[in-house]
Amino acid sequence: MTAPGLPMQIPADGLPAHVRIHEVGARDGLQNEKAVVPTEVKAEFIHRLADAGLPVVEATSFVHPKWVPQLADAEALFPLLGDLDPQTLPVLVPNDRGLDRALALGARRIAVFGSATESFAKANLNRTVDEALTMFAPVVQRSKDAGAQVRGYLSMCFGDPWEGPVPLPQVVRVCRALLDMGCDELSLGDTIGVATPGHVQALLTALNDAGVPTARIGVHFHDTYGQALANTLAALRHGVTTVDASAGGLGGCPYAKSATGNLATEDLVWMLHGLGIDTGVDLGRLTATSVWMAEALGRPSPSRTVRALSHKE
Ligand code: HMG
Ligand code: MG
Repeated sequence: MTAPGLPMQIPADGLPAHVRIHEVGARDGLQNEKAVVPTEVKAEFIHRLADAGLPVVEATSFVHPKWVPQLADAEALFPLLGDLDPQTLPVLVPNDRGLDRALALGARRIAVFGSATESFAKANLNRTVDEALTMFAPVVQRSKDAGAQVRGYLSMCFGDPWEGPVPLPQVVRVCRALLDMGCDELSLGDTIGVATPGHVQALLTALNDAGVPTARIGVHFHDTYGQALANTLAALRHGVTTVDASAGGLGGCPYAKSATGNLATEDLVWMLHGLGIDTGVDLGRLTATSVWMAEALGRPSPSRTVRALSHKE
């Protein structure tokens, strides 16, 4: 008999026993909200996510405040998280100026964020793809010197709103460059949510063929066309064990036309726990957090699982 609010557990062959969820709601989610969420509410959100058992909770970005005003309070937020281990709180950093700010506050998990396409590199970073890589190189080196782990995000790995489908070799080239400059792991972004499972499989295979081990690859799906869970399952079957998701399905990207929410963490946890895959996440506490955040934002969560679990007659 399955307890109410929990999926029935029926494992399937060929899947990992444990998945590490990289929670991005407080960064990818809130950066896309029209309203600027008060700093104290963000701090409580992050604490509640950590309390729900999420092992990694991306906290904020040290970017130019005019480019992303929603996260302009990074200096005020980070000290409110002082009781949490900085190794569990990644922050996005595009350049040396951002790294100075992040390291000064004690951040020890850094993420640079590149693009597979020229159009998005220009829109998001005001740089060409290669100029952005040049900007990241000292950030990665200095982060490693400071003992920080470094993640390399790559946006538009599948399709781009201006350029259409993105050729695999174009994606592989930038992934290789991020790893070669010292990134510990990659996160493959389907920024506008157009990927389908065969495409995911093809990209992972192309990366392996280029010498990129699956163990260093995470996936970051947006759910624009309802494909995020199917794409995640394809990645798990390939051996991926790091999956990005956003509590309540918050998210998008301010510079990507048509990007809607990230894969909702609750939807992901429902599927993983149903497959008998351990995540360490308490689904009830996580759902309560997303319901609380939806109330703070004044609109319901788009996550099907949050809606189903919080539905009252
Ligand atoms: P720029 O205008 O080219 O900046 O922007 P610049 O290098 O020419 O510098 C101009 C001024 O900005 C200078 O000040 C700098 O000091 C200052 P001035 O000398 O004129 O007084 N400045 C900064 N100030 C504070 N913090 C900084 C910083 N950097 C420069 N870090 C820049 C270039 C990269 C800064 C800008 O384009 C930027 O901040 N972009 C961030 C965009 C962003 O955060 N996008 C969302 C994250 S990516 C994403 O969501 C996708 C992802 O989820 C994966 C997926 O779904 O695909 C990760
Ligand atoms: Mg994203």
